[in-house]
Amino acid sequence: MNILAIETSCDETSLALVRTKKNNVEILGHFVHSQIKIHSQYGGVVPEVAARNHIIKIFPLLEKIKKILPLEKIDLIAITYGPGLITSLMIGVWLAKTLSYIFKIPILPLNHLEGHIAVSMLPEQYDAKKTFQPLSVEFPLLALIVSGGHTEFILSKKIGHYEIVGETLDDSAGEAFDKVAKLLGLSYPGGPIISRLAFRGDRKKYPFPRPMIQSKNLEMSFSGLKTSVRYTLEKLKQYKKEDIAASFEEAVVETLVTKTLQAIKKYNPKTMILGGGVAANNRLREMLSLKINALPETIRLFLPQKQFTTDNALMIAMAAFMIQQNKKIAEKRTSLEHWKSLAPDPNLTLRDVSR
Ligand code: KG4
Ligand code: ZN
Repeated sequence: MNILAIETSCDETSLALVRTKKNNVEILGHFVHSQIKIHSQYGGVVPEVAARNHIIKIFPLLEKIKKILPLEKIDLIAITYGPGLITSLMIGVWLAKTLSYIFKIPILPLNHLEGHIAVSMLPEQYDAKKTFQPLSVEFPLLALIVSGGHTEFILSKKIGHYEIVGETLDDSAGEAFDKVAKLLGLSYPGGPIISRLAFRGDRKKYPFPRPMIQSKNLEMSFSGLKTSVRYTLEKLKQYKKEDIAASFEEAVVETLVTKTLQAIKKYNPKTMILGGGVAANNRLREMLSLKINALPETIRLFLPQKQFTTDNALMIAMAAFMIQQNKKIAEKRTSLEHWKSLAPDPNLTLRDVSR
């Protein structure tokens, strides 16, 4: 089956073309146009600018896809229809609907977070030019998705069914990284820069709070931590950015890892997946692996490859592959008629797509 995947939920315009055959996947093409440079001058994503750039970029990317495979040979269109920025989502959804109508191709609408979960199925070692077998996920699956817009625990007991079992009450962890970077006068997005500085800093220098670490539930909060960094900076006459970055990063990582261990204890997953932009963070990957490997239970931890932690269409193609593993659910969600009514949903939840 030839699947065209489209992702435009935020500031990455991306198309992927994959061919699936039973349990195998071949990546025929994958293109990502990142707008980070454009938005970094504003200190964050400007929705109107993002949408305009999606329109400019998406057709040249489609031309690249056409050179690999004539569009009429596409069997399925996998599209992110939420959550995200409405004006950004619209561009991808309209392209999906237009292609579906013209070439009579069914659409499988996907939640962006299904992509962040499924991209971890890409094996560590695979030849992008050859057919490969994605890692097989055993259920129940627990996913920690940490990005600019989300910080949540997702429990999945079967393909296509998700339950949010814990989330941040305020800022996402990625947002905290970005805001602290701003306080330190660093550019956007702040996560990767903080993480690089932290490598050379003292993680114990400043005892920033570990928010809600003692609470019995899986709720989290990162806005107080950001405020604590702000007060500390206001009080200090001199400091090394490296030490602030390291102490802050340690507080976030310790909080996320402690909550993950609590979640594992509560839900006994067979597979644990880390996903979202913050999943690129070395310290988080390292500490999560260390702690999970030390547990008496056998839990398979899937860490996404760093290059696929930020938004891309390959993750949406992998989510389509995952859904295809259950014929009934795939049939329920896929339709030749979606072009008539599918609308982007900026507030789409995982519950909305659960079957
Ligand atoms: O998933 P993503 O690309 O976009 C959203 O859906 O939000 O996540 C972007 C977020 C940003 O907040 C960015 O600062 C953060 O991921 N990020 C990181 C790292 N790389 C990206 N945070 C911490 N450490 C990193 N290495
Ligand atoms: Zn994302």
